[in-house]
Amino acid sequence: MDDKLVEDISKDSIVRVFHLYKRFGGKCALYDLSFDIKRNEFVYFIGPSGAGKSTLFELLYKKIDASEGQILVDGINYSRLSKKKVPFLRRKIGVVFQDFKLIPTKTVFENVALVLEVSGKKKSYIQKKVRSVLRIIGLESKKDSYPVGLSGGEQQRVAVARAVVGEPQIIFADEPTGSLDSESAETIMDLLKSFHIKGATVIVATHDSGLIEKTGGRIINLKDGRIIM
Ligand SMILES: Nc1ncnc2c1ncn2[C@@H]1O[C@H](COP(=O)(O)OP(=O)(O)O)[C@@H](O)[C@H]1O
Ligand SMILES: [Mg+2]
Repeated sequence: MDDKLVEDISKDSIVRVFHLYKRFGGKCALYDLSFDIKRNEFVYFIGPSGAGKSTLFELLYKKIDASEGQILVDGINYSRLSKKKVPFLRRKIGVVFQDFKLIPTKTVFENVALVLEVSGKKKSYIQKKVRSVLRIIGLESKKDSYPVGLSGGEQQRVAVARAVVGEPQIIFADEPTGSLDSESAETIMDLLKSFHIKGATVIVATHDSGLIEKTGGRIINLKDGRIIM
């Protein structure tokens, strides 16, 4: 695809996927996916366990590479992006991992602060920003706790705090309410919605279609690695 075309499209599409395939050994986990996500959209990837949602997220934040096809995020073509530039790409993206991936030897505050430290933010800014995000998410009183001392729901909220603290343009949340009761799930969805209102593009993977009834948004259905209409 020529660069002129990429520029034109990227004005209102923040994510573009063309004929994307992912194979693990002989097994095909994603088949021929093509879709667009516009700036400031709220999109759900819905599908049962094993549908390929987490694999798609891993491709979209370039943790793994496609077997075939193209991914463009904010006009950046992943097949042309050198390893050295991946950290710059990641600053545009906040990720809530399905299994949280909190660092067990760091406190809640330190887990969230790390994102800002690696992007070179000033200490005074980090103090202020992390406190404010923890306050919004209702975990200010747990800032000095370690992940092991938190409930599953609290860990999930820390994971969301970490994903949003750098004010990324795009937030990927993989089953962000997976281990929560319905009240905590609502808090998380409200938080994601508030970042959407502020202008972020939010993409949520879930097997729980009940989640959408409450929040609204566009649905992309996945089954056995394919988009189904
Ligand atoms: N690293 C891997 N190696 C082999 N197979 C994998 C790997 N990652 C995912 N898969 C397979 O790809 C399919 C989709 O998995 P996944 O993306 O985790 O689905 P979901 O998140 O929708 O539950 C599954 O069949 C899974 O076993
Ligand atoms: Mg998954």
